[in-house]
Amino acid sequence: MNVDASSNIVEIEDLVVRFRARGHKSGFFRGASWNRAVNGVSFSIKKGETFGLVGETGSGKSTIARVLVGLYKPSSGRVRILGREINYRKKEDVFYLRQNVGIVFQDPVGSLNPRLTVRDIVTEALVASKSVKKRMYDSAVLDSLERVGLRRSSLEMHPRELSGGEKQRVSLARALVVPKKLLILDEPTSSLDMTIQAQVLNTLRKLKAELDLSILFITHDINVVRYMSSRVGVLFYGKLVETAAAREVLMAPKHPYSEELLSNIPQLVATQSLDSNAATRALVEHSPASEGCIYRNVCPKVFDKCVDEPELAEVERGHDVACFLYHDSMQRT
Ligand SMILES: Nc1ncnc2c1ncn2[C@@H]1O[C@H](COP(=O)(O)OP(=O)(O)OP(=O)(O)O)[C@@H](O)[C@H]1O
Ligand SMILES: [Mg+2]
Repeated sequence: MNVDASSNIVEIEDLVVRFRARGHKSGFFRGASWNRAVNGVSFSIKKGETFGLVGETGSGKSTIARVLVGLYKPSSGRVRILGREINYRKKEDVFYLRQNVGIVFQDPVGSLNPRLTVRDIVTEALVASKSVKKRMYDSAVLDSLERVGLRRSSLEMHPRELSGGEKQRVSLARALVVPKKLLILDEPTSSLDMTIQAQVLNTLRKLKAELDLSILFITHDINVVRYMSSRVGVLFYGKLVETAAAREVLMAPKHPYSEELLSNIPQLVATQSLDSNAATRALVEHSPASEGCIYRNVCPKVFDKCVDEPELAEVERGHDVACFLYHDSMQRT
């Protein structure tokens, strides 16, 4: 990838995350039954950039997010934050990761402890950071709530008393109460209706500018990517198949999977008002090929070369594609 390493907030290189397949018992045939949720993914996020990660359900988006906050360990590969390579076995490295990377999880209900008040939820992040004096807690919590557009009166409320949009704002306040370099937003608005979604997205754009944040924005919704992202990566079953400037991927996608993903959008907008994500899932679920190009089972442009596995390679300046159509078209039959 053609990037200036000095300006990168995060660099991920050849990341693999495997999980033991369901039903597998340890001991017997050890190592034989693992699923690769993330399979050799490399990308970087530059300072000030919003990198949109798109892909259908189960493609590994949240797994990458969880690695970046130290909740999952890579099976192999490298993660660098501000140039520092993270050794996931070292507590201080994972702490460094959490100091610099904030996350808003996909599920606004499950990610907030129902027994705690908003004040407690945000204060927990201050305590964990060990970087703020106790006497500063109250003012830091209030500042953070105000920044994300929550009223002071929400301080003593519990999550059940808040709307979906307010819950996501509490998650944001928690993620940003200690300043972060990278903010990961894992489908932050997918459970919200359109109007609330737009309000939260506007808050995010404002925060990004105010706090000089870099953002990893994970979503199914291409319209949200269009609004939020400067660069986009398209993930298919744990593999990045295309990365480029957002306008290039959105206006002129190169990988056949990206083309399909984008060609579904007008139908979605026309037929779905609230839950366009569910429709995206329904329209684009496919099974991956176990060998060669991962997309070849369903690719309308498959040809003989696709029995091999294409690398993600730069085919135009800043535009990387994992497809032989662009790598060596001379060999096509
Ligand atoms: N803790 C886990 N244990 C076992 N398998 C897991 C675990 N977490 C994720 N997986 C598997 O890894 C794959 C990728 O899951 P992931 O949650 O990263 O997908 P996603 O792209 O975020 O999907 P969605 O859009 O539905 O949120 C899936 O097959 C999932 O079942
Ligand atoms: Mg997810």
